Amino acid sequence: MSAPLVELRGGTVVLGGRTVLDRIDLAVRPGERIALVGANGAGKTTLLRALHGLVPLTAGLRTIAADADAPRIAMVFQRPFMLRDSLLANIELGLRLQGRSAAERREIAMHALEQVGLAAQAQRPGRTLSGGQQQRAALARAWALKPQLLLLDEPTASLDPSAKREVEDLIAGFAAQGITVVMSSHNLGQVKRLSCRVLYVETGRVLADVATDHFFHGTLPAEAALFLKGELPWV
Ligand SMILES: Nc1ncnc2c1ncn2[C@@H]1O[C@H](COP(=O)(O)OP(=O)(O)OP(=O)(O)O)[C@@H](O)[C@H]1O
Ligand SMILES: [Mg+2]
Repeated sequence: MSAPLVELRGGTVVLGGRTVLDRIDLAVRPGERIALVGANGAGKTTLLRALHGLVPLTAGLRTIAADADAPRIAMVFQRPFMLRDSLLANIELGLRLQGRSAAERREIAMHALEQVGLAAQAQRPGRTLSGGQQQRAALARAWALKPQLLLLDEPTASLDPSAKREVEDLIAGFAAQGITVVMSSHNLGQVKRLSCRVLYVETGRVLADVATDHFFHGTLPAEAALFLKGELPWV
C-alpha cells in the first residue's frame, strides 16, 4: 500500500475550551476519494483544516509524505470568496504565492478557467459571478495549484441541482486526473456518487471509517446507522 499523503495520529483539537477533534486516526492515501459525513457541528470542517495543517493540533501528530516534494494541498472552503478584482486575477493570486512569473500565472489561470468552463468570464469582476460560477471558480483556483490533495468543504452547498451536477462532474474529473480528494458533504447521494470511503464524524470522533458501499449497505456502529436512517431519503 502506498504511503499516506497526510496522516493524523491521535489528532486532537481543542478550541475555546472544547474538544472539537478527539484523537483522530486518519491516513489519506494517494488516489483515495474520502467523504466526511455527520451532523452540523460534528467537526468535519475542523478535520479538513487539521489535514491541511491550518489548525494546530492540541495533541497527536500530523505527518505528511516524506518525499522531497511535500504534498501540495489545496482547500475549497464552504463559502467561496472572491476578491474585488477580475475572475482571472482571483485565480492568479494563489499562483503568485508560488513564485511564478506573470506569463506563467496567466497561462495556468486561463487553463484552469477553461477546465471549469469559465474562460469566457475571465475579465468579469469575480464578485459578479453567480454562486455556482463562484464555486466552479474556487475549484479552478484550487486546481491551478496542481494539488496532489484537494480538500473540499461542502463543495455544492446552496447550489441548484444542475450547478451541483456540474461541480460534481468537475470533482470526478479531478479525481480521474489522479488528484486525491477529501470532501465533507451533507448530500448522501453525492457521497455515494463521488467517494470510495466514508468517515462518519460525531462530536469530534470518527465513529465509522468504511468503504462507501459498506456505509450504505453494510452493518454500521449504532450512531452512524441512526444518522443514515435520519437522512433517508437522501437523493
Ligand atoms: N474557533 C472556534 N472556537 C470555538 N469553537 C469552534 C471554533 N471552530 C469551530 N468550533 C466548534 O467546533 C465544532 C465543530 O465545528 P466544525 O465547523 O468543524 O463542524 P462541521 O461538522 O463542519 O459542521 P457543519 O456541518 O455545520 O459545517 C462546533 O461545535 C463549532 O462550534
Ligand atoms: Mg463545516
